[in-house]
Amino acid sequence: MPGQLEKKVAFITGVARGQGRSHAVRLAEEGADIIGLDICRQIDTVFYPMPGPADLDETKRLVEKAGGRIHADIADVRDLEAVQAVYRAGVAEFGDVDIAVANAGIMPIIEQGAARQAWHDAIGTMLTGAWHVLETVTPRLVERGQGGSIVITSSSAGLSGLGVNVLPGSAAYSAAKHGVIGLMRLYASRLARHNIRVNTVHPTGVDTPMAHNDEFDRFAVANPDAVKGFYNALPVNYIEAVDISNAIVYLVSESGRYVTGTTLTVDAGYLVRP
Ligand SMILES: NC(=O)c1ccc[n+]([C@@H]2O[C@H](COP(=O)([O-])OP(=O)(O)OC[C@H]3O[C@@H](n4cnc5c(N)ncnc54)[C@H](O)[C@@H]3O)[C@@H](O)[C@H]2O)c1
Repeated sequence: MPGQLEKKVAFITGVARGQGRSHAVRLAEEGADIIGLDICRQIDTVFYPMPGPADLDETKRLVEKAGGRIHADIADVRDLEAVQAVYRAGVAEFGDVDIAVANAGIMPIIEQGAARQAWHDAIGTMLTGAWHVLETVTPRLVERGQGGSIVITSSSAGLSGLGVNVLPGSAAYSAAKHGVIGLMRLYASRLARHNIRVNTVHPTGVDTPMAHNDEFDRFAVANPDAVKGFYNALPVNYIEAVDISNAIVYLVSESGRYVTGTTLTVDAGYLVRP
């Protein structure tokens, strides 16, 4: 059976592991060629270990194992020129991009020395980084005139007051995840007449190294008040990365053809928890 994304090219950020890797593999399973990037190094204000180049190689292996093709390289989404360089090299290999997923993110919510820097790292990665993806892909999508679909990964923290504390990194996480909704609505409105759709997805806690790690578990035990609101209405602690990937397949394929300007929750009922 043909996949839902045959002959499509998808540009995805943060593909070295976690949700980004899952999106790359899942979209490749549906027939898309993947252009991906990841920073592949530690950001000093982040309290949990970030991936390295070997993780990006593993994503390449998994995409190819799924029968797909991938062009992936190291780049920081805070650096527009670096993002555009990977995009251009990927387009040279596979042709024009139809789909973009601005997924790269960090969660610098536990203080690591330079607290104020955590604000800039989080806003730079998750708000400015998402804008860099939009700015990279939209001119050619419009020029080409064949429509397109863009998804930005927000969070439950983009729709509710969820916050671990008021440290700058925590505040910036919440601000960035709310901020991308504004970006999404602006671009969805401006690009609709070109049949280019823009949506956000809002996961609850996903079982990836960002949310499920020893450092955070220790923090949660030491600070029960900070995390007492972290539970879902459905009986599940962490959802899986592929749950978000499946929502993205829905949004970017024919099944989502009239869906734009939407904040799609995949949150196990987090927002309606009793
Ligand atoms: N895990 C959760 O519970 C959860 C919940 C809601 C939303 N999110 C969001 O989902 C997205 C994916 O996170 P994940 O759960 O897969 O975590 P993850 O840490 O496993 O993956 C994030 C990826 O983004 C990359 N990245 C970070 N900063 C970057 C930068 N400046 N430039 C390029 N790449 C960068 C990392 O290296 C990593 O590979 C993030 O935007 C995150 O905020 C996660």
